Formats: sequence, C-alpha cells, structure tokens
Amino acid sequence: MVAQRARDAELSGIRRMFEGAPPNAINLGLGEPDFDPPPEVVEALVRAVRNGMNHYGPSAGLASLRTKIAERYRDRLASTSAENVIVTAGGSEALMATALALYDPGDRVLVPNPGFVLYAPHARLAGATPVPYSLAEERRHQPDFDELERIVTPRTRAIVVNSPSNPTGAVFGPKVVDRMVRFAEDHDLTIVSDEVYEEIVYDGPSPTFWGRTDRVVIVNSFSKTLAMTGWRLGFLVAPRPLAIELNKMHYHIVACPSTPAQAAVLEGLSSERSALARMVREFRVRRDLVVRRLRAMPGVSVVPPEGAFYAFPRFAWDRSSTEIARALLGRGVITTPGDAFGSLGAGHLRLSFAASRANLEKGLGILGDYGAGVAG
Ligand SMILES: Cc1ncc(COP(=O)(O)O)c(C=O)c1O
Repeated sequence: MVAQRARDAELSGIRRMFEGAPPNAINLGLGEPDFDPPPEVVEALVRAVRNGMNHYGPSAGLASLRTKIAERYRDRLASTSAENVIVTAGGSEALMATALALYDPGDRVLVPNPGFVLYAPHARLAGATPVPYSLAEERRHQPDFDELERIVTPRTRAIVVNSPSNPTGAVFGPKVVDRMVRFAEDHDLTIVSDEVYEEIVYDGPSPTFWGRTDRVVIVNSFSKTLAMTGWRLGFLVAPRPLAIELNKMHYHIVACPSTPAQAAVLEGLSSERSALARMVREFRVRRDLVVRRLRAMPGVSVVPPEGAFYAFPRFAWDRSSTEIARALLGRGVITTPGDAFGSLGAGHLRLSFAASRANLEKGLGILGDYGAGVAG
C-alpha cells in the first residue's frame, strides 16, 4: 500500500487536456516558449559534455554560476553574493524545496487563485493547508488586501506571489509590492516570490521582491528566459540563514543540479540578452494580436497581459470553461480551462501565445466562430 500523501496527490489538470488532442491540433496550451535555446548555449552544453563535465557538482550549484546569478541581483541588494543563491532543477524543484524548508504540518499558506498549479499541492505535501486568495478579473488580477487581512491567521506561515503571473499575465506594480511587503511584515509571513517570468514583460519592468525585505525567498528559472524547459535549471535567492535550510531540502531532493547544463548556462548568460529580447519582441506582437482578436468577440473580456505569455480571457457565454475547451479540442484547438488554476479561473480559458502568429490567427478564428454560435 502506498502512503496517504501519494494517494491524495493528483497530476495537473493541464496535461489531461492534451491527451484527447487530434493530430496536428493548434496548440494554444503550451507552458513553454516555442523557441530553441540560443545556439551559443547549445554549443556550450555539447562542449561541456565533451570536456568531461559529466559528474556530480556541489549541491548548491557551481560557485561560478552562483556568483553570476548573484551579480544580477546586486542592483537590488548590494550585498547579494553566491551564498544567497542555490541552483535547482528548475523552478519546480525550487518551489518544492521551499515548501519543505518553510512549512510545518498545520501551517496555513496563502496561494493565488487563479494561480500556478504547484503551489497548493506542494503546501499539502509539506502537511500545510493552502488558503487561496483572490486575483479576480474585476481587480485586474491584483490582490485585495482587505480580503488578505480577513483570511490571514496566526497559523499563516507564508504567502506565495507570482508576478508576472501564470495564468493571468498580470504584473504587480510597485505599490502592490510595497503593500505586500508591509502585509508580510505585519503578520510575520515569508513571501515566496515566483519570478520565473520576470524578464518576459511588455509594458515595463516587473518589480522583484529581492532587496525589499529579508522575509523573502525568490524562485527563478532559466526554463523560460533561455527557452530550455527540458534542461531543468532554475535557482533560489534567499537570505543566508534561510538559504542554508533551503539547501538541505534541495540536497535531499536532487543531490545537485545538472553539471553540464550549469556550465552551458554560465557561458550563455552573456549572450542571452539578445535572444531574450528577440523572443520578448515577438511575444509582444502576439500579445497585441490575441488581445485585439479577443476584444472583437461578443461576450469576451480580457485584461491585457503585461508579462508571461498567457492571456486569460473570460467568456460570458452559456458554457463552462471546460465545455468551451472541449468544444475547441473537437475543432482542433488545444486550450486550458481556467478552473485548472483555481475556482476563480471558472469562466476563463488560458490561451498561450507560445504559438506562431499564423496558428494564433487560426485558433482564435475557430474560437470566434464557435462563440458566434453560443454567445448570449
Ligand atoms: C509560474 C511558474 N512557476 C514555476 C514554473 C516551473 O518551471 P520550471 O520548473 O521549468 O522552472 C512554471 C512553469 O510553467 C510556472 O509557470
């Protein structure tokens, strides 16, 4: 017999949607860039493997990469050093290590609704209770601090924030960041800030929580910015005492991150900027296309995403999001029903614009035709 936690754990609802997809379906469900890693980084990986970097490395990552990552955060906190950084197997492992290091059984953890699919299950795996807080469309997917004050209790240990957001694309402005820091300090919480889309922004920078308070763990990743989701490389940035505890959990999950992938990313970090800038420029064009097409459909509202590569439209159609997603699947378009991200995702679809402009046009055309038949 298996443990209760295994029996209780479920795999993400997103993947189920892909299973029924017809061949050659237009995929607007992708959670990863439709780009390749920069060629210099690919070459560096091949070189690393050929040159014998095929062995275990330090648990917290190669010192040279940790230093390089720390440098990126110095403009926000001058004292940031390699000691604050742990290189992980993607943001996913970073989130799990954080949950294991921070949450005790019986703790409560505030998680975004709608929000990325790992936060609540990770809290449960650590024995804690996830408590959703609203990021409603009416508030442009920004937190409601009156609600947060109502749901926080002395047992609340942490709040998970994700800006730019998957699935809404919303970015927290500087005022929201200020208030969130005050809220965490008032209630003795740690902010777990998932910033994996930090550099994929369209209307200005996304303020990070690093350097704003020492009650913070930053989760970040190379998956999206270097278009290397399959390489499994991310990182944590945390105050030194917390980093020591995080590293213990990280060691017990993966021992150490991939050595050749780290060597390649280190080399690529200098050339990354131009490839990233090109990718973000293309995503911005697609963002504008998606918002324009959605706004032309009756009964559809959308808050223009300011970051990440998802739009999260709401449908005042006489259909649930799952019904709409299934109907689209039958017509050869893969999307993700909004309620896969929490109860406030009901009535929404997540549309990823990690798809070519031609496929976006085609997919949105099919959505519009379907909508013309069902919009009230
Ligand atoms: C908000 C968010 N956080 C974390 C991750 C984890 O990504 P990875 O483990 O590839 O770094 C994802 C991936 O989709 C994400 O959307």
